[in-house]
Amino acid sequence: MDRDLLREKAREFQAFASRCPVFYAAKANTDAGVLECLGDVGIGFEISTEPELRMIRRLGIGAERIVSGNPIKSPGFIKAMHSLGVRRFVYDSATEAHKLAKHAPGSEVMLRLSVDNSGSSWPLDDKYGVGVECARDLLLFARTLGLAPAGVTFHVGSQCVELDSWRKALELASRLWEQAAAAGIHLRVLNIGGGFPAHHDSVIPSVPAIFEHVFHLVHRLFPQDVELLAEPGRALVADAGVLVSTVIGKARREDGDWLYLDVGVFNGLMEAVGNVHYSFWPTMSKMPAKEWTVAGPSCDSFDVIAKGVSMREPEVGERILVFPGGAYTTAYASRFNGSAIPKVVLT
Ligand SMILES: Cc1ncc(COP(=O)(O)O)c(C=O)c1O
Repeated sequence: MDRDLLREKAREFQAFASRCPVFYAAKANTDAGVLECLGDVGIGFEISTEPELRMIRRLGIGAERIVSGNPIKSPGFIKAMHSLGVRRFVYDSATEAHKLAKHAPGSEVMLRLSVDNSGSSWPLDDKYGVGVECARDLLLFARTLGLAPAGVTFHVGSQCVELDSWRKALELASRLWEQAAAAGIHLRVLNIGGGFPAHHDSVIPSVPAIFEHVFHLVHRLFPQDVELLAEPGRALVADAGVLVSTVIGKARREDGDWLYLDVGVFNGLMEAVGNVHYSFWPTMSKMPAKEWTVAGPSCDSFDVIAKGVSMREPEVGERILVFPGGAYTTAYASRFNGSAIPKVVLT
């Protein structure tokens, strides 16, 4: 991980912080050095669990720089956040509203809306979020429990490359805003979540392009007093990192040439099983390029990272740089098959 690139990206986001404060979704990369580097630039943190809270607290970050965008949280996490002074939580169910009323009484609550994730490579809309009518009813319900309905949140899906996804999400959120107003609830807070892309794909909208698009739409669709915030994860850290792997084997099979690395789906490249793409850079080879199926080290057939990759033919033992390597790599890695979890090295 390159500190300068991390800081540069953080500053790119922070340039919009006066209109839309930025909270880094720490799950993308929880390395202490990475968190510290981003914290130093003044960014806040979005967290979902007690261990994440402990990591952030070790940096001396206070409640005003912490949010949680996760709609389902453990009671212990809610209590810990509340006792620290966090007074704003996300939910999308009656059960969560009850939990919040019990462990964080009187808090402001934000409803997670289900929005179209088709512009993203790693959709996040299956598990969380509700439609507009259900959202309005849940806001009214929260009020009966003594909570203060404050706003709406959504996630357009991770690695979202379609600007139009933000338009669709904001239009839906504005419908909820209007329905809530008609039911006597004045919403103020609009959390646009994450989804800002990294260079997994060749063409991605830039951070300024996304913010300008969002600001334009917010100006058109929402009242003037709307308070914005964003929770980018991937875009802050992915491009600042390369995953350094080593070739452990090659094989010529009926369906073509296979290359086996010491890093795979289970120990760093988990997102490869979705629609997230990486590029592979041999560090020594001068051989002609060939087409490869690239796979990880485990004995599991699921452990295939990419197909149809054009790359110079490397030798066993040669280092291959995998880019972008800074987001959802080490954070997702397991010890399956006894593999080591790749270490984060900040330079
Ligand atoms: C609630 C919430 N906010 C923010 C993020 C960060 O998303 P991304 O890394 O796509 O920016 C996530 C990712 O899972 C999330 O669940």
